[in-house]
Amino acid sequence: MKNPSSKHLHKSITMKPFLTPLFLSLFLHIITVHVAGDTSPIYTPVEDITLQCGFSGDQLNPDDTRTWTGDINSKFSPFENQAAGSPSISRQAPSSSSVPYSTARLSRSEFTYRFLVATGQKFIRLYFNPASYGPDFDRSKALFSVKAGGFTLLKDFNSSVTADASESDIIYREFCLNVESEQSLNITFMPSRATADAYAFINGIEIVSMPNNLYYTSAQNSDGVNYIGSENTFRIENGTALEMVYRFNVGGRPLVFNQDTGMYRNWDGEQEEHKYLDDLSLKFSVLPQNSSIELNFTEIAKYSAPEELYRTGRSMGMNKTINKSYNLTWEFPVVPKFLYLLRLHFCEFVPDVTKYGDRRFLIFIANQTAEKAWDIIARSRGKGRPIYKDYVVFMPAGPASQKKVSLFLALQANPKDNMTNFNDAILNGLEIFKLSDTNRNLAGPNPDPPLLITPRVIAPPQSRKFKKRMQTKVWHASLGSMPPLLLKKFNNITTQS
Ligand SMILES: *[C@@H]1O[C@H](CO)[C@@H](O)[C@H](O)[C@H]1NC(C)=O
Ligand SMILES: *[C@@H]1O[C@H](CO)[C@@H](O)[C@H](O)[C@H]1NC(C)=O
Ligand SMILES: *[C@@H]1O[C@H](CO)[C@@H](O)[C@H](O)[C@H]1NC(C)=O
Ligand SMILES: *[C@@H]1O[C@H](CO)[C@@H](O)[C@H](O)[C@H]1NC(C)=O
Ligand SMILES: *[C@@H]1O[C@H](CO)[C@@H](O)[C@H](O)[C@H]1NC(C)=O
Ligand SMILES: *[C@@H]1O[C@H](CO)[C@@H](O)[C@H](O)[C@H]1NC(C)=O
Ligand SMILES: *[C@@H]1O[C@H](CO)[C@@H](O)[C@H](O)[C@H]1NC(C)=O
Ligand SMILES: *[C@@H]1O[C@H](CO)[C@@H](O)[C@H](O)[C@H]1NC(C)=O
Ligand SMILES: *[C@@H]1O[C@H](CO)[C@@H](O)[C@H](O)[C@H]1NC(C)=O
Ligand SMILES: *[C@@H]1O[C@H](CO)[C@@H](O)[C@H](O)[C@H]1NC(C)=O
Ligand SMILES: *[C@@H]1O[C@H](CO)[C@@H](O)[C@H](O)[C@H]1NC(C)=O
Repeated sequence: MKNPSSKHLHKSITMKPFLTPLFLSLFLHIITVHVAGDTSPIYTPVEDITLQCGFSGDQLNPDDTRTWTGDINSKFSPFENQAAGSPSISRQAPSSSSVPYSTARLSRSEFTYRFLVATGQKFIRLYFNPASYGPDFDRSKALFSVKAGGFTLLKDFNSSVTADASESDIIYREFCLNVESEQSLNITFMPSRATADAYAFINGIEIVSMPNNLYYTSAQNSDGVNYIGSENTFRIENGTALEMVYRFNVGGRPLVFNQDTGMYRNWDGEQEEHKYLDDLSLKFSVLPQNSSIELNFTEIAKYSAPEELYRTGRSMGMNKTINKSYNLTWEFPVVPKFLYLLRLHFCEFVPDVTKYGDRRFLIFIANQTAEKAWDIIARSRGKGRPIYKDYVVFMPAGPASQKKVSLFLALQANPKDNMTNFNDAILNGLEIFKLSDTNRNLAGPNPDPPLLITPRVIAPPQSRKFKKRMQTKVWHASLGSMPPLLLKKFNNITTQS
């Protein structure tokens, strides 16, 4: 029905840049940022599409410096096959909420958004406000799949139970995929056939181009990524899509989308990260920081992560005996039978640690040795030089075919005193992505509904704790970690406990 304009907006940018709205919005963006007194972003995406579904016109998000464009009567209007059923409708969210959660497009038939974008690797972010949009669109009836660029991002996604399990009103998901030569990216929303009156909906879509091979393995990188548990290395090729499941500024404050290096990534802070620590790590670990150290990006690109991430971290404690008595351990629930990419960010900034061998520690991923003698100074060739290291690991199914299994990350102080001056370990930042499987699928099962009354379970402490996390934290971090500014606004209006 509604056909997007044939203008190839994003292609035309190099030909007549001063005439394109995109250029204008980027230009205004820079101005606003400048006036606000912030430093200009390190990376400026070529494509920066912010679409508010079920909305007409343009809307400025006050927390963002960008304008969100409505999909009604715009070049972004979705395609739908009217013969297949009733057309999609747009509705206001029942309680007012922030951009882009305030309106939605809903349908009991399939609909497709088509974006004209250049080839290359992109972030796709999907924003859902699983509310009841009238008696005919009850929140519990939303059940749908989302496909993009040939990948299944979500399958029979039950948005209401996902939100309930995450104890959040809204859901935010981030994916990375490579757009092949077609120069168009289709994102299709399909109501599930599992229930007769199931519907699909979406509140907002964001597409942001990313620097080439930020997370993918470049053709020039002949080594590939460390493949835990394998003799071989692993290559994250263009035929793979990624879904961000955890992203932390370890030991630091949250860095929200407008504090990123220009890609609008959201980094959770210590108050979220510490929930995944084991008891001893929670008890003993300390949060060193050095806000004055001048960073020198000699080893990695400056856009890799916000500078502040490299000036904070988590390390082991004050006492050698204690440092050697436990491992700094995080336990992340993840969907099994997928490969995961872990990116560990490091930077040495503690005054006493100045040379090779000062702080040399061990890294274990999924209970397997990832590094026997990790030495940040040796790797980065100096202090204040940020680095990161990538690892890929396969997470097999658990014994009782649970929906989630534990991915452990453990740092061990070197037990051999002749190998290191300080028996200590440090981590500054962490990103974990799920990789699409051989069926080009990223979707996992829906969570179980939260238990209203906690039953008396007799279980070993470990598994009881894990269960509790599964119910409360997991989905919050992996699915629901909304940029806090937006969340705060939203919470003001709709959260009652
Ligand atoms: C992946 O795609 C990007 C652009 O989409 C291209 O620059 C890069 O060379 C490709 N990588 C490989 C390994 O083919
Ligand atoms: C979504 O999950 C909830 C909780 O399990 C359930 O009550 C609801 O019926 C599900 N919705 C659909 C459309 O299946
Ligand atoms: C995207 O969808 C449009 C409309 O349904 C279709 O014409 C086009 O071929 C699709 N493009 C790709 C790359 O799938
Ligand atoms: C921060 O790092 C600089 C450079 O290594 C050092 O001179 C300074 O003492 C450090 N400050 C703190 C608070 O650790
Ligand atoms: C960063 O490191 C390079 C290479 O060692 C050096 O030439 C440069 O002066 C350093 N810059 C700063 C700001 O320290
Ligand atoms: C380190 O901790 C151990 C065990 O708790 C304790 O015996 C020792 O006195 C502590 N050392 C220092 C220097 O605090
Ligand atoms: C730390 O983890 C490694 C590998 O799992 C294990 O061998 C070691 O005993 C652990 N150390 C402590 C103190 O728990
Ligand atoms: C993996 O390591 C964690 C702590 O590092 C431990 O609690 C867990 O039991 C280990 N699992 C297996 C299967 O060894
Ligand atoms: C460190 O000490 C151990 C014995 O505790 C010894 O086996 C090892 O060779 C020593 N390593 C170095 C580098 O001196
Ligand atoms: C134990 O760890 C702390 C910080 O995590 C570090 O300052 C201290 O030097 C370590 N102790 C020893 C003896 O290496
Ligand atoms: C919270 O909601 C009230 C009433 O809708 C409004 O007046 C107030 O400005 C809101 N506060 C924030 C921080 O959004």
